[in-house]
Amino acid sequence: MLASKRILLIIGGGIAAFKALDLIRRLRERGADVTPVLTRAGEEFVTPLSVSALAGRKVFRDLFDLTDEAEMGHIELSRSADLIVVAPATADLMAKMVGGLANDLASTLLLATDAPVLVAPAMNVRMWQHPATQRNIATLKADGIGFVGPESGDMACGEHGPGRMSEPLEIVAAVERALWAGPLAGKRVLVTSGPTHEPIDPVRYIANRSSGAQGTAIARALVALGAQVVFVTGPADVPPPDGAEVVRVRTAREMLHAVEAALPADAAIFAAAVADWHVTSASTSKIKKTKGGVPTLEFAENPDILATVSTMKSGRPGLVVGFAAETDDVIAHATAKRQRKGCDWIVANDVSEGTGIMGGTENDITLITMDGAEDWPRMSKGEVAARLADRIAQALA
Ligand code: C5P
Repeated sequence: MLASKRILLIIGGGIAAFKALDLIRRLRERGADVTPVLTRAGEEFVTPLSVSALAGRKVFRDLFDLTDEAEMGHIELSRSADLIVVAPATADLMAKMVGGLANDLASTLLLATDAPVLVAPAMNVRMWQHPATQRNIATLKADGIGFVGPESGDMACGEHGPGRMSEPLEIVAAVERALWAGPLAGKRVLVTSGPTHEPIDPVRYIANRSSGAQGTAIARALVALGAQVVFVTGPADVPPPDGAEVVRVRTAREMLHAVEAALPADAAIFAAAVADWHVTSASTSKIKKTKGGVPTLEFAENPDILATVSTMKSGRPGLVVGFAAETDDVIAHATAKRQRKGCDWIVANDVSEGTGIMGGTENDITLITMDGAEDWPRMSKGEVAARLADRIAQALA
């Protein structure tokens, strides 16, 4: 049910705009209050009169409509919504969102809003598959914009493939999911993930075998519980989770800066496998093989991001969770690590050869808190993530 939920519906210019009329009906049937905004191109496909008749209220069309500004400015219009839905979202409208343009009412509302945004793309299959559109979609996802569709099928233009706007009831289901207030709604959680790469020269680096799978699964589970997640990731093998703000870094020092910039947060989960050292003698040009012998690398210690954040004098997240990948005496080492680093919890795992954990799909962990050690059965990384996200929600409640 969407009782008393305020939805600002932006109708872009595409043949799928006719489905927006049914979408308005479906949303209102469930109790939502729909404020429609029609772009100039949208007006070519549906009339303002039919949109406002179905919405039961005025349709907003022009940024410079002074009456609207007197009644309700565009800032207020964009912020009074619980959710902004863009349906159909054209390639052009999404490109504007990526570029931060604000040259008409729809793009201005999308730039000015602090409400979550859900887009339902609709376009010709070639336009959808174009690298420019795909780049834009990746950027919007990284910015935390939600997507529903497009679906594959026959298109109005006679072609076949992805690009059809999702059906109104599917969009309604996505709206319900987007508005569902999970136990972590309103909480900001920082997650680090993946390995770091420490350069030796422009083409070589020191790395480790972390795939980023566990950190990504944790971020996804936190998003599913309604958290606002900032995901700071090194060069991982797995794609970042949808619905999180993604910050990509390479080195440990870059990761520390990104983490500091992302604070404050209610909780911080440090799942990244950060390199302990970087090469101080890193060369800016490729090191050549010479007859004189092998190069000597000099190392310096990397900043310990977990310890730095755990011991912050002010602005420390309420819950700081570290990971401990150990190969022997797991509980003893992890318990000592919790004390040494000053974090609240340590998720300890045995990554000895033969466990298949590093780079694998399963994990076998012990959760170390101030109350002691809790052994969890071996389970998939997704299940570990869901269980940990639940515990985090309980701790922040
Ligand atoms: O000391 P160790 O690397 O075993 O500690 C692991 C924990 O510390 C992980 O949570 C990891 O993300 C974090 N860490 C960090 N910065 C480092 C080294 C480790 O945040 N430089």
